This record gives sequence, structure tokens and C-alpha cells, in this order.
Amino acid sequence: MADTLTITDNRTGRHYAIPIQDGTIRAMDLRQIKVTPDEFGMMTYDPAFTNTAACRSSITYIDGDKGVLMYRGYPIEQLAEHSDFLETAYLILLGELPKGPELDRWTNDITHHTMLHENIKKFLEGFRYDAHPMGMFLSAVGALSTFYPDAKNIFDVESRHLQRIRLVAKVPSIAAYAFRHTIGRPYVLPDNDLSFSGNFLNMLFKMTEPRYDPSPVLERALDVLFILHADHEQNCSTHAMRGIGSSHVDPYSALAGAAAALYGPLHGGANEAVLRMLTEIGSKANVPAFVTRVKAGEGRLMGFGHRVYKSYDPRAKIIKRIADLVFEVTGRNPLLDIALELERIALEDEYFISRKLYPNVDFYSGLIYQAMGFPVDMFPVLFAIPRTAGWMAQWEEMLQDPEQKIARPRQIYVGPAQRDYVPRDKRR
Ligand code: CMC
Repeated sequence: MADTLTITDNRTGRHYAIPIQDGTIRAMDLRQIKVTPDEFGMMTYDPAFTNTAACRSSITYIDGDKGVLMYRGYPIEQLAEHSDFLETAYLILLGELPKGPELDRWTNDITHHTMLHENIKKFLEGFRYDAHPMGMFLSAVGALSTFYPDAKNIFDVESRHLQRIRLVAKVPSIAAYAFRHTIGRPYVLPDNDLSFSGNFLNMLFKMTEPRYDPSPVLERALDVLFILHADHEQNCSTHAMRGIGSSHVDPYSALAGAAAALYGPLHGGANEAVLRMLTEIGSKANVPAFVTRVKAGEGRLMGFGHRVYKSYDPRAKIIKRIADLVFEVTGRNPLLDIALELERIALEDEYFISRKLYPNVDFYSGLIYQAMGFPVDMFPVLFAIPRTAGWMAQWEEMLQDPEQKIARPRQIYVGPAQRDYVPRDKRR
């Protein structure tokens, strides 16, 4: 009887011993619980999946109470200190840190797949000047599926590897072109002599100089931000990636859907919402009144709270440190004082303490992005670039998991019982 859960159905008096594995019971084991044999059987009801594991995963580990985040077992603090984004992406996608020549080969592969087909440029040109770059980004990623029909071979290991190289390599180019489009500047070709993040800065900000020379501080800061955003287990957009991918569609189409999920203000759009909130607050003096309004239910303190972290988000701690380095180069973002005051007041306030609401990754990242010269509507795009590695790793894991099938949640039907159609002239 060890490692089982005994359930007594008080409707029938029957007992059921349900196996427990990894502190979890299988929802399908509940189906045997019925009052009459012709009944469907017991289901669980879990809107928003707050207590349901939908997969077994070996990619990312989070302990939300202790504020721990690890990729493939490596603490995020160590990766942010010692690794770079491409090495971390390799780790997330392939399971181990690269050995010997593996990193050079991976870096070379990514560097040589950054170019976009000319028709993707034309596709981007079709957007209006004020199109949101995230809308452009997710549309262009979806459009890539028509350029790479070989990506439909999702059960071909080599094809899957090629698509992940293409996607990790091309998302910065799409993001940069979307940015240049909105400000009416010509698209800049990738520079293969620069690092992943250095080249991204080149494609964003190069003007007439023959060679773009990225600031090493900003290049490293961006790279660390990319490491911090590379994966975060089963969040809304990853769930979208797995859910769409479970229909066996190509990864570009699935990733376009994941990016759409990330676009929302409760997810990757939150850093954009934080900046708008700080701008609206306007000054340190207005912070107490703003907090009072939040506590009265008039809006949320954006960049605070998390479904999983019930302590300080470990990524927010690292970002706060990077902010100081970035501001030494760019000058201090004046909104920082408002953010620090908000954090100070919120962390001492019973409303936030009792609900375990702490700053999350988005609270300070936007301040850095803004200081680096990014407009706020680029923020979710900056999240989507590194998360592409995480989405592709989760997609790969989903495809290789023999227990996964097309995603299909159940529902509890609460609509009308059967009734007869009423002709239009007889309806009241
Ligand atoms: N400001 C004020 N109150 C809040 C906030 C907030 N940011 N977040 C949660 N609460 C309150 C909420 O009103 C509720 O109070 P009560 O119990 O009195 O009704 C309680 O805290 C629990 O909130 P919840 O909505 O049940 O929590 P959740 O786990 O469903 O939501 C969240 C998580 C991240 C959507 C939410 O905290 C939120 O909306 N935060 C602001 C948006 C944000 O910063 N999102 C970025 C998340 S991190 C990056 C990412 O994953 O993309």
C-alpha cells in the first residue's frame, strides 16, 4: 500500500488504491471511479493547470518557494556568470554543455544561418510603419514555414536539428528587421565576425559606419538577459508550443503560436507594461497613491507576482545587478528611481507580503532595454529571441516522449440539455 493514495467514493462506499509516482497521481487512474458502469468516470477539474503536470521534463527546474532556477541542472546564477547565450542554448537544446569542438561547430552553424530570404524582407515591408514589432515577428516566424517545407519532416532527427539552427539563428534577424522597419531605416545584413548578441546590436543600430563596433558592456548585458530568458519550463507560451506542436505541425507554425502567447501583457508583454506603468506614475512622489490604487483592485503592479515564484525571482536579482553596469554606459534611466521606490514600498506592504508578490524578471529588464535604446514595443520581441531555444527544446522533448499525444483537454459541459430547433418565425 506504500506509494498509493486510497480514495473512498462516498457515493458508493468503494475504495480505490491509486499509485503515486513523483508525488503525483495519474488523472487517468481516476477514470475507474464511477457510480454506474456506463458512466464516463471521474475527471479532475483544473482551469489554468495550476496543479496539473502535463509532461515529464528534464530541461528546466524551478523551486518557486526558494527562488531556484536551473537549466539541465546548472544554476542560473552560474550560467549568467560564466556562460554565454549560444552555449546556454546548446545546453538547453542538446542536454549537456558542449565539449571539445562542439561549441565552435554550433556557433559556426548559427552564424551561417542568420540570413533571411529576400522575400521575408518584402513580407516585412508589407507592414504599416506603426505595426507592433511583436506582430511582425510572429507573422514572419510563421511565414518561414512556407520557405522551409522540409520542416514538415518532424520525425527526421537531422531535419529537426536543422530547423532549430535556423530558428535560433534567424529570430534576431527578424527582430532587427522589424525594428528597422518601424523606424524607417534600411535593414542591416548580419556580420559573421561578431558574437550572437554583438551581431544583433549591429543589425539593430548600425548606421553609416563601415563596421559596427558593439559596446562590450551592452553586448554582454544583452547576452546575459538572453541567458535569463532562454527557458522557464511549462509557462503559457511553452504550453502553446507543446500544444500546437502536438498536432505534428512544423516548428515554425508552432513557434509562431508560442510567440503569440508570449505577446500578452500577463506573460512576455509584462516588461512593456512595466515601462508604461512607470511612465504613467511619473515621479517617486506618486508611488504611494499608485500602490493604494493597486491594493484597491484598480489594476496590478506590473512586474510583480508570479505563478511559480513565491519569493524573489532569481532572474530579477541578476538583472538588477546588470542594470548598474548598463547605466554606467548609457546613463541612468530616470524611471529607475520610481521602480526602486515601488519595490521598497511593496516589499514592506502587508498586501504584497501576504500574497507573496515579489519583483519578477520583467520588473527591471525593461529599464535596461529602454536605456539601451529599445522602444517599449520591442521588449516582448527581446524575450522571444532567447526563448526560441527553450521552445525548440520543449518541442523536441514533447516529440520524443512516447506518452505524449495530440493535446486535448476535457471539459465539464454546462450548456443547455438537448432541445429542438425552432424555426426563425417561431422564436420569441
Ligand atoms: N499586483 C497586484 N496584485 C496582484 C498581482 C500584481 N502584480 N499579482 C497577483 N496579485 C494578487 C491578485 O489580485 C490575487 O489577490 P486576491 O487573492 O486578493 O484575489 C493574488 O495576488 C493572487 O493572484 P493570481 O492572479 O491568482 O496569481 P496568478 O498566479 O494567477 O498570476 C501573474 C500570476 C504573473 C499573472 C500575476 O502575478 C500578474 O498579473 N502579475 C503582473 C503581470 C506580470 O508581471 N507578469 C509577468 C510574469 S513573469 C514573466 C513571464 O512569465 O512572462
